[in-house]
Amino acid sequence: MEKHYAVIGHPIEHSLSPEMHKAGYVALGLDAEYQRFDVEPSHLAEAVEGLCALGFSGWNVTLPHKENIISLLDTLTPQAKRAGAVNTVKIQAGQRIGHNTDGDGFVCAVEGELKGFKGKKAVLLGAGGAAKGIALALAEQGMQLHILNRTPEKAERLVQAIQREGGTATAGVFAPGVWLGDVDLLVQTTSVGLHGERFPFSVQGISEQALVVDIIFNPRETAFLQDAKQQGCRTLNGLGMLLHQGALAWEFWLGGQAPVEEMRQALQKQLSQRLSTDGKKEARNGRSKG
Ligand code: ATR
Repeated sequence: MEKHYAVIGHPIEHSLSPEMHKAGYVALGLDAEYQRFDVEPSHLAEAVEGLCALGFSGWNVTLPHKENIISLLDTLTPQAKRAGAVNTVKIQAGQRIGHNTDGDGFVCAVEGELKGFKGKKAVLLGAGGAAKGIALALAEQGMQLHILNRTPEKAERLVQAIQREGGTATAGVFAPGVWLGDVDLLVQTTSVGLHGERFPFSVQGISEQALVVDIIFNPRETAFLQDAKQQGCRTLNGLGMLLHQGALAWEFWLGGQAPVEEMRQALQKQLSQRLSTDGKKEARNGRSKG
């Protein structure tokens, strides 16, 4: 019997998830379909009832519903509880289970390059929703975190959330500092660069051993990543996080291993097509948001 999946959000027309998941179904010969639905915040409860009534097996959740959907679900996985946000819902024996694959998707995206997390130092630039998901997942892997944000109170609040979960974290000034010398993983989680803006400061002097990640994937290489590359660092954009959060959602729904390479190719193909036809419009939607 055909299984039905979807992504809900507002706006949703730029979501790359349908093509990514559909490429996976084709690769494994699965009888499944994945749709996108634009759901306004005032209609979220009706939309969830509708998806259940129509027999959907699960769906992804994106902005602005990741927190508001929680009260409409029956149970949450530890990852969703930890993040205080849901990006994946599974219907199992009539139960609505909320899950979150954003943080672990980031971990999967960097683990090949970082080669071990425990005791290493991560600096996060930004303290919004995306930073929270990533920070809590990295702390769970045993990394020591240093959070820098333009608004210091938000960095402090994130540090407290990490400490409540048993992690190690400090907050600092949103500026270059001594941390540059011994950072293992630097993650740019703010929206600066999404529209071609320069990052407010340079990472000149950063340890060449550092892996530098920007969660923006369109443009493919932000000014921030170019700066890091010029300093001799290895760099990654946000495409890997987008891919792996999708692959983990797939595995949560369907079990087994997601066909990651086929899903990656589908993402890359779509991005290339959209860049060539409507780069400007697409640039609005180029960030992996946790
Ligand atoms: P999301 O959930 O997508 O991460 P968010 O919660 O609005 O979005 O967080 C956006 C992050 O980008 C915040 O860390 C924000 O900093 P403030 O907390 O100081 O607002 C950061 N940000 C956005 N625009 C910025 C700018 N021009 N300079 C520096 N930081 C910026």
